[in-house]
Parts: sequence; C-alpha cells; structure tokens
Amino acid sequence: MPREIQRSPTFGLFLGLLITLIAVIAYTGYISVQISGLRKLQSHTAEQYRKDSLQLLRIQDDLNSLGLAMRDMLDNDEPYPLSAWSSQFERVRADLGDALRLEGQSSAVHRTPEQIQFLSNSFAQFWDAVDRTFALARDGNDKEARDQIRVSLQARQASLASAVARQLVENNVGEEQAARQVSQIYDRVQRQVFLFLSAILIAIILTSLYLMRSNRRLFAQLDALSSQRSDLAQKLIATQESTLRYVSRELHDEFGQILTAIGSLLSRSEKHLPENSPLRPDLREVREITQRTLDNVRTLSQALHPVMLDETGFESTLEWYLSAAEKQLGVVVKYEKTGTPFTLDGGAAIHIYRVLQEALNNVARHSGAKEACVRLRYLGDFLELEVEDRGAGLSAQPSKRGIGMVAMRERAEILGGRIEFAQPASGGTLVCLRVPRDIVGTDGK
Ligand SMILES: Nc1ncnc2c1ncn2[C@@H]1O[C@H](COP(=O)(O)OP(=O)(O)OP(=O)(O)O)[C@@H](O)[C@H]1O
Ligand SMILES: [Mg+2]
Repeated sequence: MPREIQRSPTFGLFLGLLITLIAVIAYTGYISVQISGLRKLQSHTAEQYRKDSLQLLRIQDDLNSLGLAMRDMLDNDEPYPLSAWSSQFERVRADLGDALRLEGQSSAVHRTPEQIQFLSNSFAQFWDAVDRTFALARDGNDKEARDQIRVSLQARQASLASAVARQLVENNVGEEQAARQVSQIYDRVQRQVFLFLSAILIAIILTSLYLMRSNRRLFAQLDALSSQRSDLAQKLIATQESTLRYVSRELHDEFGQILTAIGSLLSRSEKHLPENSPLRPDLREVREITQRTLDNVRTLSQALHPVMLDETGFESTLEWYLSAAEKQLGVVVKYEKTGTPFTLDGGAAIHIYRVLQEALNNVARHSGAKEACVRLRYLGDFLELEVEDRGAGLSAQPSKRGIGMVAMRERAEILGGRIEFAQPASGGTLVCLRVPRDIVGTDGK
C-alpha cells in the first residue's frame, strides 16, 4: 500500500485542456487569415483581371471595326465621300472612350500608371490623326486623306491593336498566377489542417492517457484503502467477539459458580439454625438476593455472548432470542423456518446471530413497525436469513451515520456471503443475508 498521497490529476488535465484550447484559437486565427487572403485574391485580383479583359476585348472589337472602316474607305468603290464615315468613327470613339475609362479603373490594381497613360496617349494621338484626316476630307482633299489613312491611321490602329492584344495576354498570365496562388493557399491550408488535427489528436491522446493512468492509480489506492478498512473492521469484530465471549464465560462460569455456592451455603446454614432463630428471615433474604444476582449475571452473560450457541446450537438460541427480543424491543416477531437444517459452526453462527440482533434492533429503533418477519431458509448449499418489516423503509439520507449496517456487511464478508438491504414494493425494509454452507456448516469443515 503506497503511503504517499497521490497528486491530483486536475493540474495535468487543466494543462491538456489549455493546450488544446490555445491550439484551437491559434488555428482559427490562422485559417481566418488564409481565408481572407483567398477571398481577396479570388474576389479582388481575379475579378479585376476578368473585368479588365472584358474591356480590352471591347476595345479590341472597336479597333477591329475601325480597321474595317478604314479598309472600306481605302477601297474607293463606295459611292459616299470620305467624310460620310465620320459619324461611324464618332460612335466608335465614344464607345472606346467609355471602354478605356473602365479599363483604366480595373487595370489600376495590376498595371502601372505609366502603362495606363501610354495606352490613353496612343489613343489620343490616333484620334488627332483621325480628326486631321477627316478635316482634309471635308476640305475635299480625299486623296491626301486616303494617304493619311494608309500611312498613319492604319499603322496606329495596328500598333494599338497589338498593344491591346499584349495586355490581354498579360491579363491571362496574371489570372493564371492568381489561380496558382489560390491553389497554393489551398495546399497550405490543407497541410495545416493535417498538422493541426495531428497536434490536437496528440494532445487529446496524451491527456486521455494521463487521465487513465491517474484513474488507475486512484482506483488501486481506493481498492487498497477499502480492503485495509475491511481487514481492520473484521479484526475489530473478531476481537470484540472473543472479548465478549471471554467476559460472558467468566461471568457465567466464575461468578455463576461462586453465586451458586453462596446460595447453597446459605440454605445449608439456614437448615442448621433453630426454627425460631431471628437470623432465619435475614438469611432467606440474602439467599433470595444471591439468586436474583445469579439470574442477572446469567442474563448479562447471555446478552454479551449467547453461551447457548455453543451448548444447544443456533436454532434454539435463535428461538430463545426471538422470544426475549419480543419482550425487550416491543416488536411482535413472526418466525418461519424452511428447508432441511444443517448444523452451523459456532464461530460462524455468532455472526449470523449478530446480524439478526442488529436487524431487529433497527426495526425497533427506525422502522416504526410493531411487527417483523424473520425467515430462516436452508437452501441446500446456502443458508438464508431474512428480516422484514412494513415500516418507514430506508431513507436515502439517514439522519446519523451508524455502523450497524456496516458491521452487518463485514460479518457477511467474514462468512464469505453477501447481505442486501432492499425496499420491497409493499414498503418497509428487507434485510437478506445469504451465506454458503461450505463455510458456515460444520460438515464443510
Ligand atoms: N428497518 C429499518 N427501517 C427504517 N430505517 C432503517 C432500518 N434499518 C436501518 N435504517 C436506517 O439506516 C440507518 C443506518 O442504520 P445502522 O444500523 O447502520 O445505524 P444506526 O442503527 O442508526 O446506529 P447503530 O446501529 O450504529 O447503533 C439508520 O439510521 C436508519 O435511518
Ligand atoms: Mg443499527
């Protein structure tokens, strides 16, 4: 039995819980940062690229229609003058202006202001050239205007178209990069989830192992304490029984014999006195007192340890006790005996007798019932003793802590049997002691 007091597992458990909580909080923070990064990447960067590309496609479309218009203007088989194209150019110019403005906004995230400026400058120069060309056409210089288109406008349109195409390609690359970043974040988060789950699992396993270990230790300690307590109780019961038996025997044999001798001496002396001697009444009175003392000594001796148990056996002692208990306790006892009796060992019988005594005392003291049933059953391999009353029944929380029931349990344990305290459906209390014949019977010895 370990002497030192076990350390409480509370600190270890608290530490385990704290580590788990910190890990959960830290991980939640980490995941939030990762997710908000993902959201930014997806909804901001990728979205901006998409919007920018849409505007660039619109610009590309406009440039294409300008290119077609210029080709038609150069074809020279149209019946209209060159200035007739100016309204189509103005429509495209307005649309391009709007597309460029929107493109400038959405490309601000991934393009430098110089890059944005370059595109709008190029367009401004292109429109200057267009204006000059239409001015020539309006002045009737169609040939010069056509030269302008061929030499300047078509080249500018081609260079603008290729700049826009380049930007579209750049956008694609940017979008791919963003997608790669997103998938890298996903990978990182996935790795961290595994790491986190492993760490949490390890913390939980360690805490559980610690809990199991300290529980095992506590239970072992409890078990050792309980058997120690039981050993002590059983030794106390054995010592008490042997002391009571000794005192009872001394009272019965020593004092009983002395008092019996005094009694017979007194009656002999009385006989030797003359009939009218004044000492006679005194001697008779002393003899009667001696007889009463002898009776009291015998009763006390029986009460301390029923000598009858060793002399006349368990059953007659039980019957004698029940009739005495009826008078002393004021409880009517109904006694039933069933089965084929077998002889009980004296050392075992005293424990069964004490259980009966305590159970009947409890009926008288706690149940409030005026009647009790005592049943003795010889069941072949077992002996069963039941004491039942129809009184108040066992309360869940007894007002004071007695040791009667504890001692009954210990005595049952000494006899290798078991005892149950039940509350029958009809009310009251039922004490049932069941002990094996091979321990309590003399034939098993
Ligand atoms: N037959 C019964 N009817 C009602 N209550 C009972 C009965 N037997 C026991 N009890 C309850 O169980 C409690 C414990 O009984 P136990 O015999 O252990 O102690 P006690 O009788 O109070 O004291 P002690 O026996 O040590 O003198 C009692 O206080 C009582 O409340
Ligand atoms: Mg009691």
